Amino acid sequence: MPLAAYDLTGRSAFVTGAAGGIGRATAVLLAEAGAAVHCADLDEKGLRETLELITAAGGEAHLHPLDVTDRNRVRAAVAAAGDLDVLAAVAGIMHSSTVLETADEDLDRVLAVNFKGVLYACQEVARTLVARGAPGSLITMASGAVDSAGPGLLCYSAAKAAVVQLTKTLATELGPHGIRVNAVAPGWIRTPMTARHDSEQQHRAEATMARVAPLGRVGEPDEVAHTVLHLASDASSFMTGQILRPNGGVAMPW
Ligand SMILES: NC(=O)c1ccc[n+]([C@@H]2O[C@H](COP(=O)([O-])OP(=O)(O)OC[C@H]3O[C@@H](n4cnc5c(N)ncnc54)[C@H](O)[C@@H]3O)[C@@H](O)[C@H]2O)c1
Repeated sequence: MPLAAYDLTGRSAFVTGAAGGIGRATAVLLAEAGAAVHCADLDEKGLRETLELITAAGGEAHLHPLDVTDRNRVRAAVAAAGDLDVLAAVAGIMHSSTVLETADEDLDRVLAVNFKGVLYACQEVARTLVARGAPGSLITMASGAVDSAGPGLLCYSAAKAAVVQLTKTLATELGPHGIRVNAVAPGWIRTPMTARHDSEQQHRAEATMARVAPLGRVGEPDEVAHTVLHLASDASSFMTGQILRPNGGVAMPW
């Protein structure tokens, strides 16, 4: 497949969580590949920094400050963005509490951001694609947490498992419309999210990755963004309903 398959010139992408970490790396890379990028996030300062990075590199970016759990705001932003071709639903939060200590409000917030926020963005973008009769690519952000269990991770991993089911279900429903839907399930990536863990947890994660990951290290946001670019572009034109795992090889079955 020629490299032109990765060229997104003339396409338009909506990226949630674009103010930092993996979402910012994704927005910057999709813009570098030629897409006009619509950046959505709660964090307005972070969004402006992303815009500066994209415009400084000669790309096109538009900002949509919003909370992904607010369906009306998501719908309005998608409508304002005009004809979209790509969605990268990256926004998410981490939460850790044991099952016995989990409060209703923690569960509700994590499901709202990490699952409903992805659902709303997929629904709103997919409806416009179907109405236009246009092909497109929707990319959701799951996590390596869907492949394993660990203390404290119920809310997060349950929400991410729901994202995987959403992705597979949508892939079956939207395939006949020429719309592809795939998930990315990263391993431990160095971002503001993981930097918020205390230093002992970070050390433990790095030591674990050094031991169990064939590549022996944690990942960088850009390495996940390249997986998203693959799924956003024609290079993955025969892929839908898949989960791609940029994770250093951790989940390899041996
Ligand atoms: N970093 C990792 O190791 C890792 C691993 C697996 C999966 N992920 C997933 O990748 C995604 C990005 O993670 P990250 O590490 O870049 O996190 P991050 O905290 O660095 O970035 C998340 C972004 O989402 C935004 N956001 C949070 N809640 C929002 C809301 N309600 N509405 C709009 N924006 C909101 C934040 O403002 C932030 O800019 C998340 O879905 C996360 O679960 C991360």
